[in-house]
Amino acid sequence: MPKKPTARRIALAADHGGRRLKDLLRDYLRQRGEQVEDLGTDGDESVDYPDFAARLARRIEDGKCTLGILVCGTGIGMSISANRFLAVRAALCTSAFTARMARAHNDANVLCLGERVTGPGEALDILEAFLQTPFEGGRHARRLRKISALTAGGRPKP
Ligand code: RB5
Repeated sequence: MPKKPTARRIALAADHGGRRLKDLLRDYLRQRGEQVEDLGTDGDESVDYPDFAARLARRIEDGKCTLGILVCGTGIGMSISANRFLAVRAALCTSAFTARMARAHNDANVLCLGERVTGPGEALDILEAFLQTPFEGGRHARRLRKISALTAGGRPKP
């Protein structure tokens, strides 16, 4: 079980394909007054997205961060990698609508974006929708418990 952090703290990470969008979102969040932790990557050198997804997932697992943002070229590699960690519910979002649903119905705690898919203006709209939407609970909470029961308590993912 992830430990509960005291205040909202947002981690960001990216590979070389998502680094520019990650930096833009980081600066936006700081201006918004959020507590932000930038886990890299910081340059243009080619790096492997699973390393950065794992780095961020561990911050969620440890309770050091409440939310995460992962960016790669498409967002796909990051979402596949992050969702291997049981404390993570990562959602690859391409619109404000999918971001709202990811929070309201899936209680997503990690937002994945693709820098080669989503432009900066739309990415900021998606981020705002993700930050502002509360989880609805109820039947959606039951379904999330079912995911845990079928994975953590049942057979591990191969
Ligand atoms: C890197 O070229 C690219 O494969 C990566 O950023 C991501 O899109 C993978 O899913």
